[in-house]
Amino acid sequence: MNPLLARLMPGAAKPATTNTPAPEAAASTTSGSPLKAAYVAWVEDLKSAMPHDQAMELAIGGHFDLLGPKLSSLVRHYGLPADGYLIDVGCGSGRLSKPISEYLTGRYLGIDLVPDLVDHARKISARPDWRFEVVDHIGIPEIDNQADAVCFFSVMTHLTHEQSFWYLQEAARVLKPGGKVVFSFLEFLEPGHWQIFEDTLEAAKSRTEIPMNVFMGRGFFPVWAEHLGLVLDEVRNATDAITDEGALGQSLCVMSKPLTPN
Ligand SMILES: C[S@@+](CC[C@H](N)C(=O)[O-])C[C@H]1O[C@@H](n2cnc3c(N)ncnc32)[C@H](O)[C@@H]1O
Repeated sequence: MNPLLARLMPGAAKPATTNTPAPEAAASTTSGSPLKAAYVAWVEDLKSAMPHDQAMELAIGGHFDLLGPKLSSLVRHYGLPADGYLIDVGCGSGRLSKPISEYLTGRYLGIDLVPDLVDHARKISARPDWRFEVVDHIGIPEIDNQADAVCFFSVMTHLTHEQSFWYLQEAARVLKPGGKVVFSFLEFLEPGHWQIFEDTLEAAKSRTEIPMNVFMGRGFFPVWAEHLGLVLDEVRNATDAITDEGALGQSLCVMSKPLTPN
């Protein structure tokens, strides 16, 4: 495999330290191929190269034991009640759904593009009462005003800005008044994210097809929140230890749906 590609593929994410895990790259491509086809092909490649369960974990970046509890602690920190409703967009193979199943007695909907990943998440979460669904592009299969929290971890890092905004419109629609949307992102202000940009730049120059890595600027968020009818609650650094589980390694943005429409 091309060494640049190897660095940027999710399976190549470096083992994370307690406070500054390496953010993973994932498998949407710059080739112009449909979003879903690129992810499905990436998972098929991994399945042909290693045991199934290992492929399922590696496909979304691995490090389930380290990152899973961090993701779970973040959605609890931002107010998900134990009997609440969490929608996990880009749930992958269950890195969040498994640990949060120990806390969440309420509802959960996990959606992802890749059927194998969704099947794995369903299996390891062992919650027959929860919904795990495959989607084909952008959209949350839920009616309006239902969820206490909608999260996107390492998902908008691989979507165009238009796709991310579209998903936030969906999140705003399905959230209950008072509910929160939490999403992680890559940014130039974070020194630890620079290497990802350099690798992406090098690939562009050498015309190597690599996973798409998309950076956001903090200046987006007040404007996006206003257009979404949401309130921008906070933006946190990738290195902030927001919970006792330690820093995530990606920056974090939290918006909430006002109790009365803006
Ligand atoms: C890097 S993985 C992160 C998985 C999970 N959120 C986590 O942090 O453990 C990105 C996931 O987003 C999914 N994904 C990408 N585009 C998506 C879309 N438009 N709708 C739903 N899921 C998507 C991919 O299939 C992949 O499983």
